[in-house]
Amino acid sequence: MSLLDRRAISERLDTESFGRTMYVFSEVGSTNEAANELASNGAPHGTVVIADSQTRGRGRMGRKWLSPPGCNLYISVILRPALPARDAPFITFVASIALHEAATGAGVKASIKWPNDLLAGVKKAAGVLTEMEVEGEKAKYMVVGIGVNLNMTDKMLAAELGEVASEATSFLVASGREVDREAFAASLINQLEKRYTEFMSAGKGPIIQQWTKRCGLIGRQVEVCEGDSVTRGVAEGINGAGHLLLRKTGGEVEEIGTGDVAIV
Ligand code: BTN
Repeated sequence: MSLLDRRAISERLDTESFGRTMYVFSEVGSTNEAANELASNGAPHGTVVIADSQTRGRGRMGRKWLSPPGCNLYISVILRPALPARDAPFITFVASIALHEAATGAGVKASIKWPNDLLAGVKKAAGVLTEMEVEGEKAKYMVVGIGVNLNMTDKMLAAELGEVASEATSFLVASGREVDREAFAASLINQLEKRYTEFMSAGKGPIIQQWTKRCGLIGRQVEVCEGDSVTRGVAEGINGAGHLLLRKTGGEVEEIGTGDVAIV
């Protein structure tokens, strides 16, 4: 088991601000928690927090993100965008596109599942959790947290994830190749800055286009579960609010704001 080498990440960065302030821990509660605290104390835009393991890794919808040491990537980036709070979902889409690019660069055939999962084949290998501190109607700062199952073996997935192991995978399992964690972290940080900069200058249109191209749900019959409600339809894309557009059997289009999607 090896800890992450900060220098091996830094020397691969071609960014202006992302990762220029970087904290690499062997263990934290959650990198999002640490990044939120740093941000509330004034840490600059682009600050990166990485940990080899997390004891309280958090996922979407209050779920846990299992974060064993020595194998994966747990990373959070502090952003200070001049952005209306309602556009926050687009930061998650920006992160998903960056993640997809970095995965492709690592030789993994991946696709995005709305809103923020990265699938390798049909199983989840990574997720994005964006958190935001709001001031008035604007984002004061945001923390984009990304967890990527890189080098977990089948055995580790089964041992760590128990019954959800059948829905999860890692880059190693999907591609048969071990991933250099520092090189992958640097590639992800580079992609994040590139995509974020594009979004801030060109707006939502290109992001919707790039995201849709990478989304594996488009044109497929899906089911979205949110609490007790289930909506079925063909996924057509996302709108300017970041909602998933589902064409139902009657032809009408429903906008879905939250939920878990499955291809049926
Ligand atoms: C999801 O539910 O799909 C989102 C998972 C996000 C996990 C990452 S790991 C790094 C960062 N720190 C956390 O506590 N969560 C995010």
